[in-house]
Amino acid sequence: PEKGLKDYYKDYFPIGVAVNPRMVQPGPEADLIKAQFNSMTPENAMKMGPIHPEENRYNWTDADAIADFAQQNNIKLRGHTLCWHNQTPRWLFTDTEGKTVSREVLLARLKRHITDVMGRYKGKIYAWDVVNEAVPDTGTSLYRKSKFYEIIGEDYIEKAFEYAHEADPSAQLFYNDYNTENASKRERIYQILKKLTDKKVPIHGVGLQGHWSIYEPTAQELQASIDKFASLGLKVQITELDLSVYPKEHERRQRRDTDKSEFTEAMREKQVAQYKMIFDVFRKNRDKLTGVTFWNLSDRYSWLDNFPVPGRKDYPLLFDEKGQPKKAYEGVVKF
Ligand code: XIL
Repeated sequence: PEKGLKDYYKDYFPIGVAVNPRMVQPGPEADLIKAQFNSMTPENAMKMGPIHPEENRYNWTDADAIADFAQQNNIKLRGHTLCWHNQTPRWLFTDTEGKTVSREVLLARLKRHITDVMGRYKGKIYAWDVVNEAVPDTGTSLYRKSKFYEIIGEDYIEKAFEYAHEADPSAQLFYNDYNTENASKRERIYQILKKLTDKKVPIHGVGLQGHWSIYEPTAQELQASIDKFASLGLKVQITELDLSVYPKEHERRQRRDTDKSEFTEAMREKQVAQYKMIFDVFRKNRDKLTGVTFWNLSDRYSWLDNFPVPGRKDYPLLFDEKGQPKKAYEGVVKF
């Protein structure tokens, strides 16, 4: 068989992909995953809403299908995610009368959830995104005003890590966030992580989501993020890589965005160069980086097709709509 991404990068770091349960059923997508990747992350199946829809009921079907596929094919598995303000189940923050629960009740619910989910996949998941996106994009506040924060207080973060470490002492525990190349947000994330490491909270790594574009980040911004977090003694992973062909919201002020869904030759060339540059930086940081995961498999389907502009097709990945390697693929594997 031909070489895949995982083979080109075997001396560097595992190369992963976000999957949904449909993709792991026998077929061309499952074949592409097996040929190219040696790590996977469930795109949605292990989030609290989908996996824990009622207080006393879990829905393991989709998550099990993904975990079984990973085991059978010797693919590493990352868990995503245990404590996040989005995709939460309806029951989580209220009692049966609809009243907001107390700090104690919410902590107990969080602990139960983490213990049950991590317990089920113990030994099958090597790393977990324990807390996701706890820091706001702008302003000076360190903490996003989520329900977890408002009901429990800022120590919900350390509690989540403590529960996770108890549930599976051998799992690597990550804090995961996006926009980490923004200097202000990077600094605020750093401050939270520094508090945790100073207090010896069990945290082992930081995930840079990597929802970037063909325009950003620069090599310097990316290097600055990796260095800053690694300076805390934490491992760094790129957990949700994709390079949108459209400028991000905050870039639109400088650039004229086209909302047309075409993928032009100029965009293609820019994407090739950006992917090449980003992977050059990744390889240079092999001592600090312990994984790179793409957020989705091919341009046939990406979450960016509906975000942030509903119905605007995007082309952010290394495989085209037919699952064939794009020109950017060559740029990533030829070094
Ligand atoms: C996205 C999924 O890709 C979508 O299918 C879902 O509708 C919303 O969530 N940051 C994260 C991921 O940590 O969990 C998000 O995944 C993308 C942004």
